Amino acid sequence: MYLTGQHPVVPSRDLASSITHVILAFMQSHIFDVEEIPSEFPLFTTVAEVRKQFEPGTKVMVAIGGWGDRGFESAARNETSRRRWARTVKAMVDATGADGVDLDWEYPGGNRDDYKLIPNSERVWEIEAFVDLVRQVRSAIGSHKLLSMAVPGLERDMMAFTNSTVPRLVAEVDFINIMTYDLMNRRDRVVKHHSGVADSVVSMKNYMARGAPRQILNLGLGYYVKWFYTEECDPDNLLSCPTVLLEDPDTGADTGNTGGFSWHDETPADVVESFARARRDGQYFADGSYGYWDAEPRRWWSFDTERSIRTKMEVMKPLGLGGVFAWGLGEDAPEFSHLKATIEGLEELKRSHKEEL
Ligand SMILES: *[C@@H]1O[C@H](CO)[C@@H](O)[C@H](O)[C@H]1NC(C)=O
Ligand SMILES: *[C@@H]1O[C@H](CO)[C@@H](O)[C@H](O)[C@H]1NC(C)=O
Repeated sequence: MYLTGQHPVVPSRDLASSITHVILAFMQSHIFDVEEIPSEFPLFTTVAEVRKQFEPGTKVMVAIGGWGDRGFESAARNETSRRRWARTVKAMVDATGADGVDLDWEYPGGNRDDYKLIPNSERVWEIEAFVDLVRQVRSAIGSHKLLSMAVPGLERDMMAFTNSTVPRLVAEVDFINIMTYDLMNRRDRVVKHHSGVADSVVSMKNYMARGAPRQILNLGLGYYVKWFYTEECDPDNLLSCPTVLLEDPDTGADTGNTGGFSWHDETPADVVESFARARRDGQYFADGSYGYWDAEPRRWWSFDTERSIRTKMEVMKPLGLGGVFAWGLGEDAPEFSHLKATIEGLEELKRSHKEEL
């Protein structure tokens, strides 16, 4: 589970005890791109504080990066900068007492928030540089610390995750969190599920096909909801209905025609009624994903329900994955009903594995 600075809420012990890894998000990548080891590593909490809230033995890691983070590029630039960055990460792990680090470069090779301003063609060098950066971090922190990475769920963002790089990346990391959410975002022009069941399976298979062992892959859940304005849609044929323009074609900036909020957030006043309809009247699609098109404001809602989460746990079974994670733990507060569905689904999965043995 990611524990985020925006929603640093932890469930009661009975739920928290099912969590094996807590990843604190985020530290910014540029703070490691320095000559002198910093005396402090700013974070919204401390590793020691978080440890107290979970069972002994729970791994507590620090995530570096995130969407819009701007430091990986100069960190990865050359051998010297990569070594220096990795050395500072190691110093952070020692100073904080973390069990390891999670690298969240979104994304090496391009398609970042500034992709309209800096084309991916200028970032091809990052693909090999990323492999070396990961290698340097592993070498700096040693094999007794955990190293993981969060990677894109959409194939269009997998510039740096090819059948050449994935085998070398997986040799360095303990596990990979595949961000199977935001699979519909402002770069899309048609309606999709943002965290669909079938689309999540496709994401997992994309990494396997490029050489990732299934047991180190984790499926991602988004404990939040998203909406998008669309054109007039045929209610019987919602998927592939055109959206309105969601991003500025020149700058890539958000046009304000999409939004989202976590289960922990207060529902924004302007969408309260629409969201109530989405929860009440939405439908389950053929693959088990949930969605709702609100005809009056022409708004497409996409989010997981407890049932769609259980469906995901079932379809995971034949994939033999390592596990599941969510962005993020506190985003599901205060009820933690999606977390409960996740844990129950996983326990069911474990039971059926045992029965088969
Ligand atoms: C390496 O890259 C950094 C920028 O990240 C730059 O300041 C430095 O001069 C480069 N060093 C070499 C040897 O190219
Ligand atoms: C690797 O990917 C390339 C491009 O997608 C493909 O042409 C090639 O056959 C793949 N190689 C292997 C070993 O899968």
